[in-house]
Amino acid sequence: MIKSAEFAERMKNLPEYPFAALGRRLQRLRTSGMDVIRLDMGSPDLPPAPTVIEALAQSAARADTHGYAGYRGTAEFRQAVAEYYERRFDVMLDPETEVLPLIGSKEGLVNLTLAVVGPGDVVLVPSMAYPAYAMGARLAEADVVEMRINHDNCYLPDLRDIPDGDLDRAKMLWLNYPNNPTGAFCDIDYYTHVVEFCRQHEILLCSDNAYAEVVFDGNPHAPSALQAPGAKDVAVEFMSMSKSFNMAGWRLGAAVGNAEMIEALLRVKSNIDSGHFKAIYDAGIVALRTTPQAWIDARNAHYAARRDKLLEILPRIGLAVDDIPRGSLYIWAHVLNMSDTEFTERTLTETGVSITPGTVYGIDGAGFVRISLGINDERLDEAIERLLGLWA
Ligand SMILES: Cc1ncc(COP(=O)(O)O)c(C=O)c1O
Repeated sequence: MIKSAEFAERMKNLPEYPFAALGRRLQRLRTSGMDVIRLDMGSPDLPPAPTVIEALAQSAARADTHGYAGYRGTAEFRQAVAEYYERRFDVMLDPETEVLPLIGSKEGLVNLTLAVVGPGDVVLVPSMAYPAYAMGARLAEADVVEMRINHDNCYLPDLRDIPDGDLDRAKMLWLNYPNNPTGAFCDIDYYTHVVEFCRQHEILLCSDNAYAEVVFDGNPHAPSALQAPGAKDVAVEFMSMSKSFNMAGWRLGAAVGNAEMIEALLRVKSNIDSGHFKAIYDAGIVALRTTPQAWIDARNAHYAARRDKLLEILPRIGLAVDDIPRGSLYIWAHVLNMSDTEFTERTLTETGVSITPGTVYGIDGAGFVRISLGINDERLDEAIERLLGLWA
């Protein structure tokens, strides 16, 4: 036992990560014999392009790839990220000062929060958002202030609504498009508006672009916040190989943008981790440089077909969709006749299908559920059958 059997003060406000808690529960249900189908988690079920897997194997087979690869990853991976940003978004990055590889973007966005805020500071987070933004703020003992997003404002926070007292204390503002959980997009004009606002109020804009390559229906590609004029003065963007290239388990991403913030993030990270396995960087380079657009388009068409299959049955199971997702990996649906938690709880306990209640994502998530498209087709069909059996 440690003294007084109490954890640190910062743990008081830090619950277990929602998907970690859910995963444990699902494991217990599986152990008790339930055949659980996970439509809750945004983990791609399909592999990356074959060349990426070959690159990993080749690099891992070499004798000289097994030591520490460096706190800033490899120069070639940083270069590949910079090339990707130029090709994809027409954004020029200095690979030495404006790109920092991450062990998945999640650690980067939490570690940057630890670098930037502390007690008394405010982190502005959309009222439905990836939970790690708020959890990072809690870990840093900062205050979270939610910016309302909903169907009526096209899921774009109206920055005029942020109370003056909160604005004075705000040091970080989070945006995420293509959006988890809603599938909403924003355009460069909106990023430009937010960049101007952040410059005016001296706030760091954190743009989470984890779903940059997951777009449906031939929509124009999702932009980068760094395309907004002057963005690098106030913004850092997080890119991730997880969803864009089907590499979630590989844990590879990067923070790009404002050099001072990249340096601050490196200072935290260099005290916490020692970078990734070189073979992962080598495979990441191949993914960024050679994944054919046709491969990305086919993968996205596959998700869109699953989306359409689900959209067809939702009205029959008491769910309604306000906005058809244009990208990301999810359907965001309104629960018509009960609370979101009652719907997900009954669905799980009575059918074994796990769906995420919207309350996990923030105050405006109440009354909604998120359904993931990252599930193989056979299991999706089985899930649909069970959902119809319970609710139709
Ligand atoms: C919006 C968003 N950002 C970031 C992440 C983290 O991605 P990773 O750490 O795998 O790069 C996720 C994962 O689900 C996400 O949905």
